[in-house]
Amino acid sequence: MIETIPEITNTKTAAIGVFDSGIGGLTCVGKLIELMPNEDIVYFGDTARIPYGTRSKETVLRYAKQDIAFIKRQGVKIIIAACGTVSSVAVSHKGLADADILFTEVVTPTAQAAVASTRNKRVGVIGTSATIKSGAYAKAIHGMVADIKVFGIACPLLVPLIENGYTERDSVVTRIIVEQYLNPIKAEGVDTLILGCTHYPIIDQIIEDYMGEGVKLISSGKEAANAAYAMLTKANLLTDKATPGTSRYYVSDSTEQFIENAHSYLGEDLNARQSIVELANIEE
Ligand code: DGL
Repeated sequence: MIETIPEITNTKTAAIGVFDSGIGGLTCVGKLIELMPNEDIVYFGDTARIPYGTRSKETVLRYAKQDIAFIKRQGVKIIIAACGTVSSVAVSHKGLADADILFTEVVTPTAQAAVASTRNKRVGVIGTSATIKSGAYAKAIHGMVADIKVFGIACPLLVPLIENGYTERDSVVTRIIVEQYLNPIKAEGVDTLILGCTHYPIIDQIIEDYMGEGVKLISSGKEAANAAYAMLTKANLLTDKATPGTSRYYVSDSTEQFIENAHSYLGEDLNARQSIVELANIEE
């Protein structure tokens, strides 16, 4: 069967496209819905190939290109790489998205927010192994303000914990692992902590409990949503619709698992926005 491929429509009525390796990008979607409740959203979570953060740059790049191609085929007006790992690779590969469509990754807007937040010029970054190894957040921050000290720690166990539902504030296992990872960053006296993987804001209460109220947490998912809002506003591409938008979620593996995870994070929005969750075929 020949599938009809929607044209890329740079029109106000087209949807906002978001992708991640799993449910992390929902931290971006939550903020998009808050900022632009009437926009339609198309989401892709590559749950068959998660985690991305332990893979090589080449593999992440290959996956990212396929994710972007899939999202583009849905006929969107902007693409958000709501994945810190893809973004860390993407910032040094400018050709990842075509110039014919608006595109944002998470690193640049998140670094901007951290620079605006820090008072003592000591910023922590937590992310996947690939993200921390890339040094992308430190490079972005130093490109804005050279004398900010950046302390990065990879937290590879957090994505599997979150994808498996260990997200409650009193989850003993997640609290212990968070403490273990964050101890050296806390010791550096940072006043701002970048949650450089979009999954991490799902457990922000646990992270905040450990870091203390004096440390400002920056959600990379939310900052990407803010950036997308600014880009759409500037391009005059915000929808004119006055009714709530719809959401289409695609995953590359088990829709059940995704629905369960998504419900605990986006519960009401999922019900209110006529959401559908479908299995995606990304190998076209
Ligand atoms: N949400 C992804 C990120 O922001 C998780 C990466 C992974 O799949 O390991 O990095």
